[in-house]
Amino acid sequence: MLAVDKQNSDYLYRQVIDLITQNLESGTLRPGDRLPSLRRMSRQIGVSIPTVRQAYVELERQRKVESRPQSGFYVRHRASNPMVNTSPGVRPSAQPVPIGGRGLMERVYDGLHQPGVVPFGIANPCMAKPAAKALHRTMKRVMARAEERSLSYAPTMGEPGLRRQIAYRYLDSLGSGVDPESICITNGGQEALLLALRAVAGPGDVIAVESPTYHGLLELIDSLGMLAIEVETCPEEGVIIDALRQTLDSHPVAACMFSTTLSNPLGVSMPQRDRERLVQLIDERDVVLIEDDVYGDLLYDDARPKPAEFYSRSGNIMTCGSFSKTAAPGYRIGWLLAEKYRDEISRLKRSFSCSSGLLQQLTLAEFLASGDYDRYLKTLRPVLRCNAQRMSAAVARYFPAETRTSQPVGGCVLWLELPASVDSEQLFDEAIAAGISIAPGLIFSPCDRYRNFIRLSYGHPWTDETEDSLRWLGETVAAGA
Ligand SMILES: Cc1ncc(COP(=O)(O)O)c(C=O)c1O
Repeated sequence: MLAVDKQNSDYLYRQVIDLITQNLESGTLRPGDRLPSLRRMSRQIGVSIPTVRQAYVELERQRKVESRPQSGFYVRHRASNPMVNTSPGVRPSAQPVPIGGRGLMERVYDGLHQPGVVPFGIANPCMAKPAAKALHRTMKRVMARAEERSLSYAPTMGEPGLRRQIAYRYLDSLGSGVDPESICITNGGQEALLLALRAVAGPGDVIAVESPTYHGLLELIDSLGMLAIEVETCPEEGVIIDALRQTLDSHPVAACMFSTTLSNPLGVSMPQRDRERLVQLIDERDVVLIEDDVYGDLLYDDARPKPAEFYSRSGNIMTCGSFSKTAAPGYRIGWLLAEKYRDEISRLKRSFSCSSGLLQQLTLAEFLASGDYDRYLKTLRPVLRCNAQRMSAAVARYFPAETRTSQPVGGCVLWLELPASVDSEQLFDEAIAAGISIAPGLIFSPCDRYRNFIRLSYGHPWTDETEDSLRWLGETVAAGA
């Protein structure tokens, strides 16, 4: 079946590409088939392993094959229809609104904790076993060493060792220094969002959010008696700066809460030029920007972009981070970087929760310092990327043809636009009764929007049950559409 011609002047790796492409076109190789291993292919056709690797990598770049961690290269399935900017989509609200839909949100959270449920509804990349073990070992070591101290209160702004590690990560990945004193350790990213909001806004104030946006943020705005105003996004690049300008022109916005790196649920990042325009606009209008950056370490390819905080001249920017998506959501450890507001943040932190768990902070500080955290991220990102491709392919296989999906560049969630007649609240009820949790689109907007959208998480190990559950969902959507 396979042969190359060494007398041919064409590069050998190109000939390997041609051979594979011919086999794809003839149907000898089909979607989901594994390509011969590098070693086997090199033996079969008499070229070196690096030459075969070069050909496979190029085929991957051409999106004909995909690599799966520790498994090899596979022929790609047809991907689902991408959501692109020309989508008829939905137009976000132009008015600030209070947030409703609490009943549905509660049902979604209750469903997540049902025993044995398929967890498409929760954005939580599960730790690989070796990494989880390394974290447990670290905690045991810390307990043995710190003894009584690990049971006591941490300082209000957090354990200095962990704050230093976080500051070091900004320096290491961004080349920009951060004063560890400007970092407040919080109870997850959620408390960082709460502290940031409370520091700059009060009841009745208007908060600009992306549309669609993270449902936990909407609940927070609601619980603080504030109003949300949606800003239009583009499914490939996030917040549209001109739409934000219009919103700021027409409403007294107290703060903007955006995820410029890996938004939830779209999974996209704002391009550099827009980041700069965003900060310029924020500075010009003297508005506060609260960056929700809890997924930044899960970008598949690119180096982590600088948080907006690093460009701003006004300093009206705060950045929220978390270890929930990358280490242990149960530790409840996040942080808030807020140089200008640090005194107010310290006061609020003391009054809300006094401090965050010391044992978890000491453990994470050591996990980061040992390099285990970075080693783990290096293995997690390719697994998530591979799951993203598999989920997109499964949607193309099982869901109605008009279904469109986001194109996440990191993180662990896929955003689906289903046929217009589908009611995602009803789909949620049917799915949860069948033991499958999904996140219905309605909870990602303060208005009655995204009724025919759902968010699915691919953060869990891919199993036959994953595939069967996606088939069930696709068939149920098709039956109701
Ligand atoms: C965008 C976003 N921000 C903040 C949070 C809250 O993070 P944590 O679990 O660390 O409180 C989440 C959790 O899902 C999220 O998706």
